[in-house]
Amino acid sequence: METEISQRLAELREELRRHNHRYYVLDDPSIPDVEYDRLFQELKSIEQAHPDLITPDSPSQRVGDAPLDAFTQVEHEQSMLSLDNVFSDEELKDWEKRIFNRLGLAADSDKQLAFACEPKLDGIACSLLYVDGVLERGATRGDGRVGEDITQNVRTINSIPLSLHGDNWPKRLEVRGEIYMPKGGFAALNERMLAQDSKPFVNPRNAAAGSLRQLDSRITAQRPLEMCCYSVHIRDGSLPFDSHSAGIKQLAEWGFKTNAEMRVVQGVQACVDYYNDLLTRRGDLVYDIDGIVFKVDDLALQERLGFVSRAPRWAVAHKFPAQEEITTLLDVEFQVGRTGAITPVARLTPVFVGGVTVSNATLHNADEIARLGVKVGDSVIVRRAGDVIPQIVQVVLERRPDDARKVEFPSCCPMCESPTERVEGEAVTRCTGGLVCPAQQKQAIKHYASRKAMDIDGLGDKLVELMADEGLIQSIADLYQLTVEQISNLERMGQKSAENLVAAIEKSKATTLPRFLYSLGVREVGEATAQNLAKHFLTIDAIIAANEEALLEVEDVGPIVAKHIIGFFEVDDNRQIIDRLLAAGVHWPDIIPPSEDEQPLKGETWVLTGSLETMSRAEAKEKLVALGAKVAGSVSKNTDCVVAGPGAGSKLAKAESLGLKVLDEAALQAFLNDH
Ligand code: IVH
Repeated sequence: METEISQRLAELREELRRHNHRYYVLDDPSIPDVEYDRLFQELKSIEQAHPDLITPDSPSQRVGDAPLDAFTQVEHEQSMLSLDNVFSDEELKDWEKRIFNRLGLAADSDKQLAFACEPKLDGIACSLLYVDGVLERGATRGDGRVGEDITQNVRTINSIPLSLHGDNWPKRLEVRGEIYMPKGGFAALNERMLAQDSKPFVNPRNAAAGSLRQLDSRITAQRPLEMCCYSVHIRDGSLPFDSHSAGIKQLAEWGFKTNAEMRVVQGVQACVDYYNDLLTRRGDLVYDIDGIVFKVDDLALQERLGFVSRAPRWAVAHKFPAQEEITTLLDVEFQVGRTGAITPVARLTPVFVGGVTVSNATLHNADEIARLGVKVGDSVIVRRAGDVIPQIVQVVLERRPDDARKVEFPSCCPMCESPTERVEGEAVTRCTGGLVCPAQQKQAIKHYASRKAMDIDGLGDKLVELMADEGLIQSIADLYQLTVEQISNLERMGQKSAENLVAAIEKSKATTLPRFLYSLGVREVGEATAQNLAKHFLTIDAIIAANEEALLEVEDVGPIVAKHIIGFFEVDDNRQIIDRLLAAGVHWPDIIPPSEDEQPLKGETWVLTGSLETMSRAEAKEKLVALGAKVAGSVSKNTDCVVAGPGAGSKLAKAESLGLKVLDEAALQAFLNDH
């Protein structure tokens, strides 16, 4: 009996360890989570019944332990070194030259050195000690000589093996690497912190550091930490490999997570190329990196190169431009959007961060200002990661000047002076001025002219701004009163472009009811809702007259959308604008409710691909939808017909391979004419 239980325990542990490795180390799970949970539950219940059979490397032993009073100090047997930095390609090339000199190679020799290139993860350095293949201790770097014992916390990190895979490991093995928090886990953790009214972390590195510094490892266990290993230090005997990259490969075989981006390249120019490639992909990586580490790959050469003070001569870090910088908050301005939402925007002393000069950052809303506790005049930390808009992540309180000024959210709209309001339970503050507000007017006109709305060719955002600032247009209805002369008097507008614009505005008069509805910019009424409203009510008058009950009958319209629709048409100004638009000649074909037999494509799914010449894809889609078809974005075996214009690629190929019906533009035209 006892042996049967021990055997089952061993099986479960081995299986869970394998799945754990696939999930956390290889990112390649082979069973669904529920199955993993079942196995885990079985292990736990056996262990509960037989506590004497629990081993320290059992997968159940990752959930955290009783809190510590303090971390104990650990003296590293071999110091944990740091890296020298370079900040330019030139400095990197100089580093290679110094290596050539040290190794006694002529600078012009054709010899290319092999370098291992690795992302420099932005986390916390950690050393792991395995004795007889079992994790014995985890320690932070500390000052390089003495660190802290964080074994309890390290054991909760799923990508760290509690015991080594394979059997060729040495009796004592030290592995080093970086503990970090992936971006996704960081975002989720911060959401959780905010939901609990706790202070969110400033960046993934701080979150990782804060999580590792927990004396209560049960808290660490709930934090999405990972460890990626970058060096092997064997404490007895010699290393069973002769290059850094072979060591990394060996680490992966022992069950450690290593960096999939690691490459061995020849010569420093290839290092520069690697750096540039990763710099462009930096934002796509699932973890933060702050540069690239280059290492001479050959361990014998590493040995010959040795160390200078506390850094190896055989490795160097080429830092990326910083993603966080310190600057001053000069002022907070308030911008008004199309829907009247008032967004506070921080004006900053320009600072170079994340590869660009940043002088503005969003502050989102009043809650965010309160959370940051930021005042005008403060020194603030600005973060710009990837293409994300710059954010203020922290105030440097100890640098607050005496005359720092509280940020007051305006009680009146900065554009039209209408009162602002903040709806209970919402984070946004809005201007109540509607289309009286010039900011909302401009945004409304930009939206009206945009491609998916009335599609007025040549009327871009800049021109709308200019014409509104010159007083030529206040509302969308004013567009139809514009003359060639007025437009040609504008800066950088010639006679010809003015004529073209007037013609484009004229052309926009012929439209469809769904487009027109969408163009009005009613809050929450996107293209699909506009379609549904038009299909349901058939006329603009019926929509204007609809009460909540009637609106709720429309597909996808809920109480909030209904409220916005009613609110919009209740405003006299808005109804007058619609009257003026119709009087100016905006028109659309009547919508005749389709009877079943007029919907020959009912139940069919069509896909449009490639370009069409006689009509736009949007028009083709509208016509097909009117005939009852669903127009999908991708081809599958459920597709009934694919319309392929010139330039059609993979979708056409797939349609052909599935033997689907394919029409060219002429055949589509013929079909539409017939129906
Ligand atoms: S090698 C003697 N490789 O950067 C070589 N370090 O600035 C020591 N780091 O404390 C480190 N990614 O925490 C190495 N791929 C990588 C790294 C890396 C991040 C950190 C490490 C070290 C710091 C030095």
